[in-house]
Amino acid sequence: MSTPLLTAPQVGVHLDLVVADSSYQAAGIRELVLRHPGRAILPSFAPGSHIVIECEGHTNAYSLTGSGDFPEEYRISVLYCPDGRGGSAAVHRLMHGEQVRVSAPRSAFPPVANARRHLLIAGGIGITPMVSHLRAAAEWGRDAELLYSYRPGQGAHLADVQALCGSSPGLSLSEFTNRRSFRAGLAEALRRQPLGTHLYVCGPQAFMDTVIAEARAACWPESRLHLEAFGSAELDAGRPFSVRLGRSGRSVAVPSGVSLLDALDRVGVTMPRLCRQGVCGECVVPVKAGRPEHRDLFLSDAEKSANSAIMCCVSRSLDPELELDL
Ligand code: FES
Repeated sequence: MSTPLLTAPQVGVHLDLVVADSSYQAAGIRELVLRHPGRAILPSFAPGSHIVIECEGHTNAYSLTGSGDFPEEYRISVLYCPDGRGGSAAVHRLMHGEQVRVSAPRSAFPPVANARRHLLIAGGIGITPMVSHLRAAAEWGRDAELLYSYRPGQGAHLADVQALCGSSPGLSLSEFTNRRSFRAGLAEALRRQPLGTHLYVCGPQAFMDTVIAEARAACWPESRLHLEAFGSAELDAGRPFSVRLGRSGRSVAVPSGVSLLDALDRVGVTMPRLCRQGVCGECVVPVKAGRPEHRDLFLSDAEKSANSAIMCCVSRSLDPELELDL
């Protein structure tokens, strides 16, 4: 009997999976293995993809770390955040056999297909999307280099990335457990990459800010810099702007510290929403004019560049006014 294959039309937007296994990658970092209860093959995904998990009323996005080709399971690694909103604690409480609802995988951080080389830079739990990038690079024979900075004893997926880099000639790994050696290694790695290399960074906001600033200082073009943020928790309040509702001509002010979603709520324009973190895609609004400041994890780079849609729960405006198709 062949293994059933789940495709998008069969499963719709969500999958109901069960916790098949779990372990600790490091202190406070729990890895979960999620499978279909009927052991069906799950939808494939691109490297760097994430799923959104609904758990005890929380919705959070987590990068997939396993293989993306016809996967029998989805693997995620979740850092327990005692000062967070409770989403990571809820995931850490999940029991074996418990059912969870997850979104279909979404790719917002894929490798660039025509890149000459891939420079992957991970800080702490930011290693998770890099694991699937490395797996794909090994599989396709691509050149990739991983710089991994973690606190001593807190390196998640170390065995995975060491095994991948040890068995694939095009892959290499540099590990750092203090800030000074990382900064030196980063500067050196940025200097010696061949033209056509793309840089991917994931980690805490300050870590990503440092990497991006160093890359810009080393004259890397913006088009070759890619970053994966963890969600809206660390977003700043943003500048005020206004939106014009194209269908009524009405203007709505969006003050600093107030989301576009909430500003629309206040004037009776209610958009669907689920996560409020820019990951689920529920609150998308078509844009007719102006440039959104995209802060979400849902739209792809190409969709963001098109400036034709905005996730109104987290994103704001680069221009004083946006015109929305509402
Ligand atoms: S509510 Fe989920 S992306 Fe906005």
